[in-house]
Amino acid sequence: MRGDGTSSPGTGGRYYIETWGCQMNALDADKMSGALERRGYRRADAPEHADVVLFNTCSIREKAQEKVFSELGRLKPIKDRRPDVILGVLGCVAQQEGRAIFERAPHVDFVIGTRATASLPVLVERLRSGDESARHTVDVELRDDSIRFPFDQIRRDAAGPAKAYVTIIEGCNHRCTFCIVPQTRGREISREMADVLDEVRALTERGFREIEFLGQTVNAYRDAQGKTLGDLLIAAAAVDGVERMRFTTSHPAQMTDALIDAMAAARPKLCSYLHLPVQSGSSDVLRSMRRGYDRDGYLAKLRKLRERMPEISFGTDVIVGFPTETEADFGHTLSLIAEVEYDTVYAFAYSVRPGTAALGLGPDLHPSVKFERLARLNELQKGIQARRNRRWIGRDVEVLVDGPNVRHAGEWTGRTSDARWVHFGGSSAPGRLECVRIAESSAYSLRGELVART
Ligand code: SAH
Ligand code: F3S
Repeated sequence: MRGDGTSSPGTGGRYYIETWGCQMNALDADKMSGALERRGYRRADAPEHADVVLFNTCSIREKAQEKVFSELGRLKPIKDRRPDVILGVLGCVAQQEGRAIFERAPHVDFVIGTRATASLPVLVERLRSGDESARHTVDVELRDDSIRFPFDQIRRDAAGPAKAYVTIIEGCNHRCTFCIVPQTRGREISREMADVLDEVRALTERGFREIEFLGQTVNAYRDAQGKTLGDLLIAAAAVDGVERMRFTTSHPAQMTDALIDAMAAARPKLCSYLHLPVQSGSSDVLRSMRRGYDRDGYLAKLRKLRERMPEISFGTDVIVGFPTETEADFGHTLSLIAEVEYDTVYAFAYSVRPGTAALGLGPDLHPSVKFERLARLNELQKGIQARRNRRWIGRDVEVLVDGPNVRHAGEWTGRTSDARWVHFGGSSAPGRLECVRIAESSAYSLRGELVART
């Protein structure tokens, strides 16, 4: 395109990426950006200013998926006006829907699945140079070598200057009856620990201070040498420049004693917060979800974690309104939430997903039932968080500064080791570790003033 600020095909150009969903998707978007930028592409701030528009999609719930199709519809006028703009769909909706995407959105040029991202730059170049045989390419092969993506090509500023995500395992071997991830992300495949540590070292040399290890089932990590997540945490804690480490998301059934011991040994660099999705507080529902643990088994894991790391705090995911969930089952979820006192709960109304076993477990509950339960759970959790955060008033906390507070000019925002958001005034900079004295709290964050570090 000439005359409107974009560049001609084959000479690099501008790309725009829209990303939905989890941290894995966010990191995939940085991989796509990095691969294109190495070929001379520059980022555009809106689809209107781009030669290549990429949608990196999420299909975890129906709403997320429908959002993708409605946004694709909004791009139709742009594509009509400028037919040489290349439009690609990637990520989980791409993996799941494949060629069917062209039926609902014929103006899409290509579809690339979750483990075929490496083919993106070549395909884009072919399309931009007018190779018509490339149009409507679908690449949804679940490749085993996707885990070996060249990490030095990742564009690294999206997660903030202080923190970087590092993939260690892709895919999921579980078969939770509600979940589409095994279909969209394939079987588990772990990256070599030596390769992961190389990336950690390269990141700390570039100034990153917090590393978050990622995987759909991150604690299932086991490389070809038999190295586990516990081994990795201990090795990474010894890397110069690593100030903080986190990992997400863990499966409760794979929270072994050996891993808990390694976590304790990797403190204090390992942050004192663990996200451990419970999904339900009812053992009957957990069984029909095929989660591989019951209520008591889950609570026993938390007890062990607290024994070894008394300062640890927890977060979780909950699904309300699973097809077999009765009012009594839901009551068990409420009582578990009250008993554990999580700091963060991501609660979702159950959403029917194609090809999942839950489809055979009974009719979808009425939305009014699901959303009424969701509201009750959120209300309970809000009170718990407000109470837990209040305990921090008057205390000093260590904060890794993320950046300026977007809601209050002149303030900074960062996180504590146990993942609380803290806002504070005074002179600071992204990436600094500061000591903040807490003066106010809400259910979602703390506010205070800088004090000199002791
Ligand atoms: N192991 C994954 C979990 C995948 S999805 C991870 O890395 O995060 C994230 C959360 O979405 C799940 O823990 C679950 O609470 C929720 N979820 C998954 N499928 C769902 C569905 N069909 N309806 C509603 N919520 C769902
Ligand atoms: Fe989904 Fe269960 Fe795996 S929630 S990602 S199938 S552990």
